[in-house]
Amino acid sequence: MYVVLKYIALITIPTILGGCDMGMDHHNNRNNGPATFADNGERIYFTGVGRDGLAIDAYGGNMHQSMHSRGCAGCHGPDRQGGIRMYPFFWIQSPPLTPEALFGQHEDGHGDHGNYSPTSLQRAIREGIDPGGEALDSSMPRWAIRAQDMKDLIDYLAKSSSSLH
Ligand code: HEC
Repeated sequence: MYVVLKYIALITIPTILGGCDMGMDHHNNRNNGPATFADNGERIYFTGVGRDGLAIDAYGGNMHQSMHSRGCAGCHGPDRQGGIRMYPFFWIQSPPLTPEALFGQHEDGHGDHGNYSPTSLQRAIREGIDPGGEALDSSMPRWAIRAQDMKDLIDYLAKSSSSLH
């Protein structure tokens, strides 16, 4: 019985909170992302919409995602610095997706695995596997993204965020 009640609470409480929109969307990219996008990769990062104009299917993810849009920016930040806590699992934080963090030397975030290559980055985005072969937390969605969209997104992630805007 307790399990059932807990389950109901898990479903209803966030729905109520989400419905009331308790000011939880302060980092919502719909408000602070660019109004137009320099290229397809940037558009995917902010909106999760591919070249065909349709939302790219994502599996997994969490409530944070349903509240904060479908792109990457809602979780990894418009500046790609990460550090956003994954409501309601506040102990899980999104890692940075800057070129330095992904391809260069870094101590923070996922410092326990080697640098990404474009190939291992695709695997992380599609399958949620990091370069060390470890599964990423399920709060990171797995993206069913087409080859050209993936290429555009990786090109975008390889560009320094400070050179973007
Ligand atoms: C619902 C929130 C959410 C969304 C949306 C999201 N991510 Fe993530 N992502 C995360 C979290 C949380 C992690 C850390 C997982 C872990 O610690 O195991 C992560 C990890 C990653 C990693 C691994 C980084 C590392 O240091 O190993 C990459 C790469 C990544 N995300 C890319 C993306 C891309 C590209 C998009 C958009 C197509 C995206 N993410 C959308 C939450 C999200």
